[in-house]
Amino acid sequence: MKVLVVGSGGREHAICWSILKSPKVSKVFCAPGNAGIDSIVNIVNIRLDDLDGLLDFALNEEIDLTIVGPEQPLAIGIVDLFRRNKLLIFGPNQHSSQLESSKEFSKIFMKKNDIPTANFESFSDFDLAREHIKRSEYPLVVKADGLAAGKGVRVCYNFEEANEFLIFIMQDKIFSTSGDKVVIEDFLEGEEASFFVFTDGKSILPLDSSQDHKRLLDGDLGPNTGGMGAYSPAPIVDQETRENIMVDVGDPVFAAFKRDRIDYTGVLYIGLMIKDKKSKVVEFNCRFGDPETQPLLFRLNSDAFDLFYMTAKEELSKYKLEWKKKSSVTVVMAAKGYPGKYETGIPIKNLSEFQDKNVEIFHAGTRKVNGDININGGRVLGVTAEGDTLKDAISSAYRSVDKLDSTNLVYRKDIGKKGLIKIA
Ligand code: AMP
Ligand code: GLY
Repeated sequence: MKVLVVGSGGREHAICWSILKSPKVSKVFCAPGNAGIDSIVNIVNIRLDDLDGLLDFALNEEIDLTIVGPEQPLAIGIVDLFRRNKLLIFGPNQHSSQLESSKEFSKIFMKKNDIPTANFESFSDFDLAREHIKRSEYPLVVKADGLAAGKGVRVCYNFEEANEFLIFIMQDKIFSTSGDKVVIEDFLEGEEASFFVFTDGKSILPLDSSQDHKRLLDGDLGPNTGGMGAYSPAPIVDQETRENIMVDVGDPVFAAFKRDRIDYTGVLYIGLMIKDKKSKVVEFNCRFGDPETQPLLFRLNSDAFDLFYMTAKEELSKYKLEWKKKSSVTVVMAAKGYPGKYETGIPIKNLSEFQDKNVEIFHAGTRKVNGDININGGRVLGVTAEGDTLKDAISSAYRSVDKLDSTNLVYRKDIGKKGLIKIA
């Protein structure tokens, strides 16, 4: 089977790495990829938003399955286009992917189907939104409706903060048309974790949990980032919490898809706020998380290609999911200065020589130039390790992090610590 993976991050590196283990896979392409992906599969220089270019490539190469990593191609309709051309593709269509690409769509869906989430109101008029934040109690959460690369949400502790963010979104248009509407919702208390389910429209398969570390600095301090590390499973999602997630969220979402004829094929990322074993949905994403996918797929024992393929073929109910009895951890190494300004084009000196059979370094922002692997993006590497316990996995990941040239990289030293506290 020939597979095309769309994306260029650590998540796509992990997807390529995991499907390559399948005996059914003969060739993998990744567009546009990165230096790490280049070392294991064939990278193709086609941009994420060049849907016609991706389609031409898939038709010419007679690709058997396309797997979409990030949200942008889904939101602009890659799945609809590929299906119209009789190509098999993993991911939801444009309409369904509004569960991620429009916060308002997602909140209305949840309210209509009694899925637990924060109370909200949405506005397309600045003055009405401003009146609302004047009357509201704080903290309060202000969200740009559309995609904003993880930057469109602010938890506000007073009117001034909410007003400032509202001006940025609706008047300064810092997120362009993604800020045509805003969703303003109640603040939820608890601990965040994510839970992943697959569905092919006929059945739903719960995968497992993961916990991201969104802030830049140890102790959950500093600015928000795309994610500085993750581990899986997340001890906060114990058996009872997991059952509650499926009863309160997973099953009703699947029933609503069927009832409302929402054609959803792919993975649903359920972002949760958990308190006393009960969860409320913070957000839905229509794709795997990054970096959550790296530790999650690291633990998968069954055939990863089959998981994607059988979902796309609507044969998911036949898939036998199996996990390694391990914990795994990803420590993200980011460019100095991220999430603000950072320098690119600097080589990471000893990366090419690094080898450890129990550790994988999934690349994100890297580029090969004259044999060197250079920094080419904010999040650069995701050092991923496993262990019999979470503690072992953390030690193993940090042993490898310590061996790498980190002159121009920064990383958190406490990835997984929250999980250890839960177990203790
Ligand atoms: P979202 O893009 O909607 O997931 O929001 C980004 C981040 O903002 C989340 O991961 C949470 O940390 C925080 N957040 C969003 N909505 C809420 C809420 N209602 N209550 C508390 N925190 C929230
Ligand atoms: N790590 C958060 C996300 O992928 O949305």
